This record gives sequence, structure tokens and C-alpha cells, in this order.
Amino acid sequence: MAKRTLRGGALVCPLPPTMVSCGDMENSNIITIGWTGILNTIPPKTYISVRPTRHSYNIIKEKGEFVINLTPSNLVKEADYCGIYTGKKVDKFEKCKLTKVKGTQVDAPMIDECPVSIECKVTDIIPLGSHDMFMADIVAVNVDENLFDKDDKMRLDKANLVAYAHGEYFELGKRIGKFGFSTNKKKKVRK
Ligand SMILES: Cc1cc2nc3c(=O)[nH]c(=O)nc-3n(C[C@H](O)[C@H](O)[C@H](O)COP(=O)(O)O)c2cc1C
Repeated sequence: MAKRTLRGGALVCPLPPTMVSCGDMENSNIITIGWTGILNTIPPKTYISVRPTRHSYNIIKEKGEFVINLTPSNLVKEADYCGIYTGKKVDKFEKCKLTKVKGTQVDAPMIDECPVSIECKVTDIIPLGSHDMFMADIVAVNVDENLFDKDDKMRLDKANLVAYAHGEYFELGKRIGKFGFSTNKKKKVRK
């Protein structure tokens, strides 16, 4: 296939358009973050890259904590809204009618309507250019009770999570495989 070579750009996708909550139960904010992912398995480490001009930047820097809330398709509009308006001017929890729930390990509130809320404590702040990367330990993961089946298996396929690719939002489609399915091995493989 002939390829078109473009100049270097931020085009790894799909990514999760997460709603990151920060602050505490009294003074909180939500910022939509696409630049996020997993950095390490043991200990579990993640990152979010945030422009220093964002209202959330100083909150996260001062508190050293945040929560990554995964966005289900019924909240995609709210996620987009939290990525357009600044918490300097609007209370996004109130405007989006989202419910704050106290974090179990951090002061930052979790978003109750999100099926998965990942509590994080910042370990490093790395300036990269346009964005600073907040590297963080994942200290707790909260998953909706109804996403566990009768065998206690976590069924994230039931969470209707959203993917973000090159400025557009998508629903996840049907499952087309699972980890290790390309081999016939029964044994569990650790990543
Ligand atoms: C889908 C999406 C992804 C975004 N990803 C990021 C990101 O990774 N880092 C960032 O600094 N801003 C990102 N933004 C922009 C911020 O969410 C936006 O500027 C927001 O209004 C900042 O809120 P705040 O000023 O209340 O902190 C994204 C926006 C959208 C809609």
C-alpha cells in the first residue's frame, strides 16, 4: 500500500477521552484528558499530560492527586463539555449534573456516573514542551459493582466506554479477540 508520510504529530489512537477530577469535595474541577495511559504494571503507574495554562494544572500540582474517570458513551457530551469550558468560570460538576463521591485514598472526588474511577497520587512532574506530564501511582481502582459477573469476572465490555481518535469520539465495537488468543495456550500469560 502506498503511504503518505506526514510530519511528526500526536496521532497515536484510539485513546480514552477521560474525565479527570481534581481538588477536593468542596473545591473540585473536571478536565477532559486524552493524553493518558499506563506506564508500568508493578507498581501500577499512569500519567496525564496537562498544559500549564489549564485551570486544573495548578490544582493537581498543589494537591498532588487526581482521579481518572473513564467515560461511558452516555457521558460523551459531558466529557466534551469538560474539555471545552474552564473550571475558572464554571462549576463543571454542577453544569454537567455529575455526582461527586469521596475518593477512598485521595481527596479528589470521583465521578459517580463513570463506571471506572482510578485514584492517582503524583510522583513526578516532567515538563515536555506544550504539556507537563504528571506521572502518578495508581493507588485504587473503583469499578461499578454491576460490571462483575456471577464468577466475579470484570466485564468492561458492558461499560460502554468511549474511544477518541483524531478529534472524534467512537463507541467501542464488538469483541474480536482476547489477550493471548493468537496462541492456543490455556496458560495465563503475564504482560
Ligand atoms: C477529547 C479532549 C481531550 C483533551 N485532552 C487534553 C489533554 O490531554 N491535556 C490537556 O491539557 N488538555 C486536554 N484537553 C483540553 C482541556 O480539557 C480543556 O482545555 C479544558 O477546558 C481545561 O479545563 P480547566 O481549565 O478547567 O482545567 C482535551 C479536550 C478534549 C475535548
